[in-house]
Amino acid sequence: MINIDSKTKLLGVIGYPIEHSYSPQIHNYISEKMGLNYIYTSMKVSPADLKAAIDGVKSLGFTGVNVTVPHKTEVIKHLDSVDDAALEYGSVNTVKVKNKKLIGYSTDALGYFKSLTDTGFDIKGKDVLIIGAGGAARPICIKLINKGAKSISVKNRTKENTIRLCDYVQKTCGFKINDTPILSRYDLVINTTPVGMYPNTEASPLDDFSFIDKDTLVSDLIYNPGETLFLKRAKNRGAKIINGLGMLIYQAMYSYEIFTDTKLDFSLYNEIVENVFKETV
Ligand code: ATR
Repeated sequence: MINIDSKTKLLGVIGYPIEHSYSPQIHNYISEKMGLNYIYTSMKVSPADLKAAIDGVKSLGFTGVNVTVPHKTEVIKHLDSVDDAALEYGSVNTVKVKNKKLIGYSTDALGYFKSLTDTGFDIKGKDVLIIGAGGAARPICIKLINKGAKSISVKNRTKENTIRLCDYVQKTCGFKINDTPILSRYDLVINTTPVGMYPNTEASPLDDFSFIDKDTLVSDLIYNPGETLFLKRAKNRGAKIINGLGMLIYQAMYSYEIFTDTKLDFSLYNEIVENVFKETV
């Protein structure tokens, strides 16, 4: 159990809704393991209250906060500076207070990429299909492009949002994304939509799995359930699958490093899976 005293440093996550977040469990577990005097909580902040909340982070003396849906883009205008990657993604999930200044970072794509490379997958020269074109898709697209993906195609319900994503990526990295699936096969297929998430576990963001085979890596950002219908159906086609737990845990570990200026050992990852998620996912 963490001992809270007058020297305890404050961390937290701001989102709306926030009740589903596992970030407090992950961060408090890490603090306990590292023996660092931090406490991390969750704060439900509506879009109308975002500025006041971010100002409060500074005035209340927080070390930093994570920022989640729907604030990841909007928060940028309330910060003093934003690091290069977060600026390129147009998304911030980590805010650190340093010398009374609010600095924004993004660890989502870093976390996703670490979970991807953990499987042994090499993105260089690969064809990628991304399902969904929302806030989660953008940093991942850009990260995969920067790491050498050959092509990216997007499959999404609303054309307008697909075009917005394609235009954004073209503008920031000069890379042309296909606004519809144009290839007959892909090396990597990623679901970035919430379709299939608990409690709607009977839904899948994809109907036709015929282009998926044993050489496809299929990835779902959803971690609850651990195996979505989308992943089950891909597995039935012989594909290798990964869920969103890796991204969730790694983005938290990278944020923790930023907050506390410490380097974490990646062996902590398995411990977090065992101790924080054993009963829940
Ligand atoms: P954001 O990530 O921007 O906050 P979201 O509501 O989580 O938004 O949606 C992320 C992506 O999942 C979007 O591309 C969204 O499709 P639209 O662009 O058509 O809105 C997609 N999505 C969400 N719910 C969906 C559903 N029920 N069926 C298909 N796609 C869905």
